[in-house]
Amino acid sequence: MLLYRFADAASWIGAAIGELREAARLARSSGRTRLALCLAGGATPEPVYRALASERLSGLDAELWLCDERAVPRSDPARNGGMIERAFEDCSWEPYPRLRPWPDAQTEAEAEESAGAYEAELAASLGAPPAFDLAILGLGADGHTASLFPWNGEGSAARSSPRGLAAVAISPLEPALRMTLTFEALSRSTRRVFLARGPGKLGAVGRLADEDPALPASRLAGPGSIILYLED
Ligand code: 6PG
Repeated sequence: MLLYRFADAASWIGAAIGELREAARLARSSGRTRLALCLAGGATPEPVYRALASERLSGLDAELWLCDERAVPRSDPARNGGMIERAFEDCSWEPYPRLRPWPDAQTEAEAEESAGAYEAELAASLGAPPAFDLAILGLGADGHTASLFPWNGEGSAARSSPRGLAAVAISPLEPALRMTLTFEALSRSTRRVFLARGPGKLGAVGRLADEDPALPASRLAGPGSIILYLED
């Protein structure tokens, strides 16, 4: 997998903007008016999302799907949907993108319902399995991505939903209870861009670049996948 290393945040963010522009160009060139993006949570991507939101993008009905979500109250700052909503709140795209948050959940039963409902929305909107135009993925130091951790393989940390596009997962990082898209849902994204930054991720970045099969993120390697790593 191609690894691009950046010494400054501006060029790292610029590379991500280039990926959005290319995804928009490809959608337009295939006569489509819709752009389906799938966005990671966590802390790394927020400055990138703010820059993407400032892009002059027009003529595409963009949907912002979430790779995963934490089973916490909507007001909890740990919620990925809140971070993404804030990052895109002043979005200059025309028309304004549609955020597709996960249904609220706080218990395992509610998380299963949320995963089932999100999977149904995804299938209804993009087909099953869905084909995102661009998936912006995070990378944990242990090589996880979304909420697909080393021990849960097919996102089977708990139960996958009927179509296998979403699952309930238990994270070693708080908050532990999460809902996640599965490899099946993420693997057909036309372009998969991993964002990582800082020395703490260097090990996982190197292993992912080598497509180490022990890393869950490696399951999303292959053509169309790249890593954008900021050495800050
Ligand atoms: C989440 C993310 C998760 C994240 C990695 C990296 O909900 O936390 O989807 O996969 O991308 O854990 O997180 P940081 O960017 O905060 O290091």
